[in-house]
Amino acid sequence: MPDFQHFSHQLQRQALDALLAMQSQIDTYTPQHENRVAELTVRIGRYLQLADDQLAALSMAAMVHDIGKVGIPLEVLNKPGHLSDEEFALIRTHAQRSYDILRRISFAQPVAEIVYTHHEYLDGSGYPRGVRGDQISVESRILTVADIVESMSEDRPYRKGLGMRAALDEIMRLRGTRLDPAVVDACVQVCGG
Ligand SMILES: [Fe+2]
Ligand SMILES: [Fe+2]
Repeated sequence: MPDFQHFSHQLQRQALDALLAMQSQIDTYTPQHENRVAELTVRIGRYLQLADDQLAALSMAAMVHDIGKVGIPLEVLNKPGHLSDEEFALIRTHAQRSYDILRRISFAQPVAEIVYTHHEYLDGSGYPRGVRGDQISVESRILTVADIVESMSEDRPYRKGLGMRAALDEIMRLRGTRLDPAVVDACVQVCGG
C-alpha cells in the first residue's frame, strides 16, 4: 500500500515545480524574488514558532505567490519610471490571477488562500478584495511583510534596491496599521535590524 500522504505531498511539490518552470520561461526575475521571499518567510515563521505544517504551507505559498504575473505583459511588469493608473490596475490583477491558478491544486494546506491575501492589509486598505484583520491568516501576514522587505531591499528589473535599512524602516512605519506588529518585530529581529 503506497503512503498516500507522502504521495500527495510529492504531487503538490511537483505541481508547484511545474508552475515555477513555466514562470521562469516567461520571466526570470519573479522566481528569484519568490525564492528569496520564501527563505525570509520561513525565518520569520520559525521565529514566531509556527507549526511544521504551517511552515510548509507558507514556503509553498511564497514560492509561487506571484505566479499570476504570467498573465501580465513583461513591458508593464518591468517598466521603469511612472506607471499609468491602468498599468497599476493591471499589475494588481496578479493576486487574483495567482489565486485562480493555485486554487485548482488540492493542497493539504490553504496555500492558495495564503497567496490570495498577500497584498491585503490589516486595516482593509489592500487588494484585491480589501479584506481585513482576522480575515488574513498569520501565514499571509508573514508573506506580506517578507514580500515588502525583499521588494524594497533587492534590485528589481526596473530599479536598484534601496537597501535593508530602508525596507525595515518602511515596515516599521506600517507596523500596527497595515502590518501585524508581531510579524514586523520578528522580521526586524531575523534581518538583524
Ligand atoms: Fe505580489
Ligand atoms: Fe512578490
